[in-house]
Amino acid sequence: HLRPPPASQMEEVSLLRGSNCRAKGAAPGFKVAILGASGGIGQPLALLMKMNPLVSLLHLYDVVNTPGVTADISHMNTGAVVRGFLGQPQLENALTGMDLVIIPAGIPRKPGMTRDDLFKINAGIVRTLCEGVAKFCPKAIVNVISNPVNSTVPIAAEVFKKAGTYDPKRLLGVTTLDVVRANTFVVCTLTEFGICIITILTFTGTISKIYYLLCLQGEVLGLDPRDVNVPVIGGHAGVTILPLLSQVNPPCSFTSEEISYLTTHIQNGGTEVVEAKAGAGSATLSMAYAAAKFADACLRGLHGDAGVVECSYVASQVTELPFFASKVRLGRCGIEEILSLGPLNEFERAGLEKAKKELAESIQKGVAFINK
Ligand code: NAI
Repeated sequence: HLRPPPASQMEEVSLLRGSNCRAKGAAPGFKVAILGASGGIGQPLALLMKMNPLVSLLHLYDVVNTPGVTADISHMNTGAVVRGFLGQPQLENALTGMDLVIIPAGIPRKPGMTRDDLFKINAGIVRTLCEGVAKFCPKAIVNVISNPVNSTVPIAAEVFKKAGTYDPKRLLGVTTLDVVRANTFVVCTLTEFGICIITILTFTGTISKIYYLLCLQGEVLGLDPRDVNVPVIGGHAGVTILPLLSQVNPPCSFTSEEISYLTTHIQNGGTEVVEAKAGAGSATLSMAYAAAKFADACLRGLHGDAGVVECSYVASQVTELPFFASKVRLGRCGIEEILSLGPLNEFERAGLEKAKKELAESIQKGVAFINK
């Protein structure tokens, strides 16, 4: 991939200016394509993937603006070589030889829209791009970001089945943002709880209570959200997003009010961002962070690292539904193992029933879109 492309691809050459030089001594790495690379998620995701030492070649594909994004990203002095590809005729070159394909192409939500409202447009975009994957890099791992993920992953699976290339181990819906939010919100809640206790104790304090306060401060306020892990199962829309707060690691206990508040906050995190952006799109920066984190986990799995576990929406048998998000262990072939859900409490069991009902409809809608 270090050879200049043939003259027939002169348009591509113009995108390569200054970008085709690998850092001396750079370790051999993986080839990654981002489809939808000029978008709100695509651009910061491209930046983060250019910084990933496991990436040797980064292909940026979109139907608009890739020359500019590619020129810009390519000036970063990190090891990965960056190439830009513009429009459908260049999809083949964008995909050929890729190890990992990340798909954030599609329209985002505006205030008042559900993720399902995006179905009409994004379903067709995901179908076209996955047809390309099936044709030009059928062995690649695919990370689907485009919403509604609950339907776009089944759409991708049906496209691959039709093409005869489907391997459920290599198709993963990206739900990492729900986990990232859950980890952050849990720490915020604990910190707020700590501050509240501190305030109460300041007014009513005795020596023993002050001692307790010092312990509490160390234990609660010292938590780094990166060290917290909340499994989030189900899917990636509204009530299908089901955080398992009974399984938080390190173990924390919450009141029922906190559980109810946190669950709603995690489920509505995306809508809060859509409303705050007031028509200018949905989560892009935190999503790029989450997508880069998930892509890095996939690459570490491909690289052979042990114990790489992330939540993802995948073909699954942990429930009666054909697709479900839960913890998966990643390895050299993609998904190595889908972990069991573990013990759920009553609140979570009720949430699971609600989630399954909505998920079943979204899955059916995706499957029907391809087979109609
Ligand atoms: P955006 O509109 O800023 O960017 C989308 C990009 O896709 C644009 O550059 C557009 O030109 C490109 N595109 C459209 N059709 C294409 C095609 N056929 N081939 C290649 N590229 C194409 O949107 P944004 O904010 O980047 O969001 C992208 C998607 O990600 C949306 O569907 C959004 O709902 C979803 N999303 C998913 C999340 C998740 O947790 N899985 C979280 C946040 C957003």
